Amino acid sequence: MRSKIAAGNWKMNKTYSEGMELVEALKNGPQAGGDDWVILGTPAIHLKDAVTATQDMPRMKVAAQNCHYEASGAFTGELSVSMLQSIGVQCVILGHSERRQYFKETDEVIAKKVKAVIDGGLTPIFCCGEPLHIREEGWHVRFVKGQLEKGIFGLSAEDFSKLVIAYEPIWAIGTGVTASTEQAQEMHGELRKLIADKYGAEMADATSILYGGSVKPSNAAALFSQPDVDGGLVGGASLKAETFIPIIEAMNDQA
Ligand code: 13P
Repeated sequence: MRSKIAAGNWKMNKTYSEGMELVEALKNGPQAGGDDWVILGTPAIHLKDAVTATQDMPRMKVAAQNCHYEASGAFTGELSVSMLQSIGVQCVILGHSERRQYFKETDEVIAKKVKAVIDGGLTPIFCCGEPLHIREEGWHVRFVKGQLEKGIFGLSAEDFSKLVIAYEPIWAIGTGVTASTEQAQEMHGELRKLIADKYGAEMADATSILYGGSVKPSNAAALFSQPDVDGGLVGGASLKAETFIPIIEAMNDQA
């Protein structure tokens, strides 16, 4: 049984007090039900207090936006999985295209991070997605397949069963251009087929695959209604309660 998820990625936005105000507003809004989740991907400064503020909210989790794969050591500026685990963070967004592009994270580094996060008992939200020119050239499925093969297909079945995937076409991130429902469904269906080929149909059916890239209140319901789209990883529209709450509602409406 796979979960539906409305995850916010705040990226590098919000002072401490602005962030905590948003957490409070979301606590007072509609919650996910059943096996579903609302996940708040906050900057590092909010993590501990966001965990504390949401500990009586059974369907909310807090996610970091990055971590290092080493357990500890001389890695100035980095956070380890055990540090995140020690304050109750449950998820880590990994392999985001902004980390790949601006911080030169390779598939190999991302694979190490995914493994470290799973070994630490946290849930990786593994991001994949193609740049515009690759979609225009028509080999977007092959490109994303390569990201999966290098990033997560080295995992054992047991480890693989613990992760969440987010498909985020780079050309749709922060641009206002959303993948059409057909484009999202096509890729999500292909991703599920790749998982089935590698780990079997049962695993494919149990894996949550989120769509990301200009998800907004106006398009969330149509995207989430696609059979292989299990919710969203939301950037800009997750920064305000008035735009994230309708997205949570759109996820809940798919129940
Ligand atoms: P936007 O929703 O702002 O396009 O960002 C998507 C994203 O990158 C989420 O991780």
